[in-house]
Amino acid sequence: MCGICSAIGGENKIFEVLNGLKKLEYRGYDSSGIAYFDNGKIKVIKSIGEIKNLEKEIDNSLYSNNVIGHTRWATHGKVSFENAHPHLSQDKRYALVHNGIVENFETLREKLLSDIDFLSQTDTEVLVNLIAKQQGSTLQKLISACSLVEGSFALCLQHEKEQKIYLAKRKSPLMVAKNEHGCMASSDMSVFAGRFETCYIMNDNEFAVMDNKNILFFDKNGKKIEKNAIFIKNCDFCEENNSEKYFMLKEIKEQSLVIKRTFFKYFVENVFLQFDDLKKYKSFHFIACGTAFHSALLGARFIQKFCHKKCEVSVASEFRYDDNVLSKKCLYVFVSQSGETADTIACAEIVANRGFDTMAVTNVPYCSLNNLTKFVLPTFAGKEVAVASTKAYTAQVFTLLILALKISGHNYSQILKNFSNTFEIEKPDENVVNFVSGFKKIFFIGRQQDYVTSLEGALKLKEIAYVNCLGMAGGELKHGTLALVDGQTLVIALSTQFSLKEKMESNIQEVKARGGKILLLSQFEPMVDVDMFVPLAKFEEFLMPIVGIVPLQFLAFAYATKLGLNPDKPRNLAKSVTVE
Ligand code: F6R
Repeated sequence: MCGICSAIGGENKIFEVLNGLKKLEYRGYDSSGIAYFDNGKIKVIKSIGEIKNLEKEIDNSLYSNNVIGHTRWATHGKVSFENAHPHLSQDKRYALVHNGIVENFETLREKLLSDIDFLSQTDTEVLVNLIAKQQGSTLQKLISACSLVEGSFALCLQHEKEQKIYLAKRKSPLMVAKNEHGCMASSDMSVFAGRFETCYIMNDNEFAVMDNKNILFFDKNGKKIEKNAIFIKNCDFCEENNSEKYFMLKEIKEQSLVIKRTFFKYFVENVFLQFDDLKKYKSFHFIACGTAFHSALLGARFIQKFCHKKCEVSVASEFRYDDNVLSKKCLYVFVSQSGETADTIACAEIVANRGFDTMAVTNVPYCSLNNLTKFVLPTFAGKEVAVASTKAYTAQVFTLLILALKISGHNYSQILKNFSNTFEIEKPDENVVNFVSGFKKIFFIGRQQDYVTSLEGALKLKEIAYVNCLGMAGGELKHGTLALVDGQTLVIALSTQFSLKEKMESNIQEVKARGGKILLLSQFEPMVDVDMFVPLAKFEEFLMPIVGIVPLQFLAFAYATKLGLNPDKPRNLAKSVTVE
């Protein structure tokens, strides 16, 4: 993960980079720092924690027209001042910021850099010294060092005597832009919004050199290459205005809008014209991580239900090491909000390199995953800033439902239109929030599609409120976990399928009989005794995973804020997981 941002030009770039880092903070917030030119020397300012801490260290009058910056999600080396980027070479002539992992850094350190006294435990300090040790011009040194690296990187490099910034990319995102005020590089496009009209997206094993006016691109042999600029649309994707205290709250509330926008895109603007091409596939294999894995589980259910085609779903970090038997008749579908998740990308590479058909379901235009796949089915959540995914999840679920319905040929457009017009975001009552936040042991149960909602509801509560909870299939409770149920246990039960209502009620009785407390979420009046009931709005059964997750998102948000936690930036996590 980590975010990198650099700027060079005729004017002060300190605050341009600082503002860029603020936009990249979703990529990590363990520490941050900048390196800048100051009277022929490279100076460094670093800080632990959020960018606001770094901001406090920077004097308003600080001026530099050559700046590189970094916001860190720790991989190699604990969170500490020493391990914060930028890192300098031992001779202090080079400064480097890095997003990615140098997997062979220990070998490089032992074999090639045994004379260096390292100040940090990071792979990045190894890399900057490796660069400094190579022969030739700075570009040649960078290319030669990168050829020795196993792993991933997006890099910005300064040399104290050159008014330039050098860039390199492999498997971590990096894009660059220029205008009359200079050039800028960043891990994502939102940093350019409002300042640049076009940008260049760097491909793997490409290098670039930015100076005050220009950007030159090179391949891995140092040969100059031409690249086409793309327009940075003034899209809502880049928009980050937030009148709520937290982005997570804004994003939960936005979900009805996201559903409307998704309907409009697929049924009015017809943004995807290849649904008919997808009908030929006999089976579908979904691959994803985390919350996207949960939406993939629902996607598979929708395809099975409406298209009667066989589906499989895999966690990407497992799939990439499986002995997979792939099929020409299967479409491999990679679901990812960011389109930058390392494990998901690795799987897409494996499948595409073996010549099988792939599709990306992504929320970020121009992301790495889109470059790898035959088809791209976009989701229209808009930029999601909070680390815990909410609106991107519902956008994925609704889009995968549309995918299934379009492939099946069913005409459900009126039902979906009605849903998009009437679906409202409702917050659970304060007494429900108070009730739930009194428990430290919580299980979420549901069957079939509600099982998936249980998994997602539990993940939200874990990641932002740090509650040790579990989502599980209602029928599984009695096969072991029921042993944990006592008077201090809350079971949050979902029941949105009429045919399974009585089965869920049996599961509820099992919990009540052991003294456990029940919060039920359902569109049906309960026929059994429950401690708390959250009625859900009534829509067609296949839309209920979208309706059912919203109160669970609210509950996780409320639980976290009651504890005084910042739900936008949960500890140990980052929005975009670009390392394995
Ligand atoms: C949880 C969450 C993560 C992501 C996962 C995959 O709220 O956001 O579990 O879903 O890291 O990320 P993407 O969808 O970007 O591939």
